[in-house]
Amino acid sequence: MAINIAIDGPAGAGKSTIAKGLAKRLGFVYVDTGAMYRTLALYFVENGIALDDEAAIEAALPAVSVRIAYQDGTQHIFLNDRDVSGEIRREEIGNAASATSGYPEVRKKLLALQRDLAAESDCIMDGRDIGSFVLPDAQVKIYLTASVATRAKRRFDELAEKGESPKLSEIEADITKRDEQDMNRAVSPLVQAEDAVYLDTSAMDIPEVMAEIERIARDKGVL
Ligand code: DC
Repeated sequence: MAINIAIDGPAGAGKSTIAKGLAKRLGFVYVDTGAMYRTLALYFVENGIALDDEAAIEAALPAVSVRIAYQDGTQHIFLNDRDVSGEIRREEIGNAASATSGYPEVRKKLLALQRDLAAESDCIMDGRDIGSFVLPDAQVKIYLTASVATRAKRRFDELAEKGESPKLSEIEADITKRDEQDMNRAVSPLVQAEDAVYLDTSAMDIPEVMAEIERIARDKGVL
C-alpha cells in the first residue's frame, strides 16, 4: 500500500511549501488539491459563469477536464489540456476556488482524481479535507495552522518579494474571509480530523516544520 501523508489547514498556513519540500526530501509525489479547485475556478471565471450560480456551475462541469502531470518532480495542472499551473496562482482565482469549492458536484468531480493519485504512489497531499474525507486511511495526518496575522504577513512578504505592493489589511481581510468560507460550508468543511496532529507554525520556520512532520511520521513507523 502506498504511504499517504495528508496535510490540511487554512489558507496561508504554509501547507504547499512544507508539503513540496518534504515530498522532495522523502522522494514522494506532492499532490496539491487546491490547484485542482483553482483550475475549475479559472474555467468558471474565464467563461463568465457567476460563482454563486450553482446550477450554471454544475452544468459547466462536464465540459471541463482537469489533468495532473509531473515534470521533473513538479506538479503541472492542465485545464482542457492547457497548462494553467501559473495562472491559477492569481489571488482572484484562489478566492473563486474558495467560493465554488463548497458545491457538492465540484467536489465530486475531483475526488476520484485525488484518490487515484494517492493509491498510485507514496504522496504528500495537501488541502482542506484530505485527512477528514479524501484519504481517511492516510498513515499520517497533519493539521497545519498559524495565526491570521502570521499568515497575512507571510503572504505580504511573498507578494512584496515579487515586486507587488500589497496592503497588509487587505490580505488579512481576504484570509479571514477564506477561513470563514472554507470552515463553514456544508460539504467537506475544513476541520481537523480526529486523528490528525495539530501543528501551529506561527513561531516555526520552514525547516523546523518539515523536520517536525518527518519526526511524527518516523514515530508512527511510517518511514
Ligand atoms: O490551498 P489553496 O489556497 O490553493 O485552495 C484554494 C481553495 O480551494 C480553498 O480556499 C478551498 C478550496 N479547497 C478545498 O475546498 N478543498 C481542498 N482539498 C483544497 C482546496
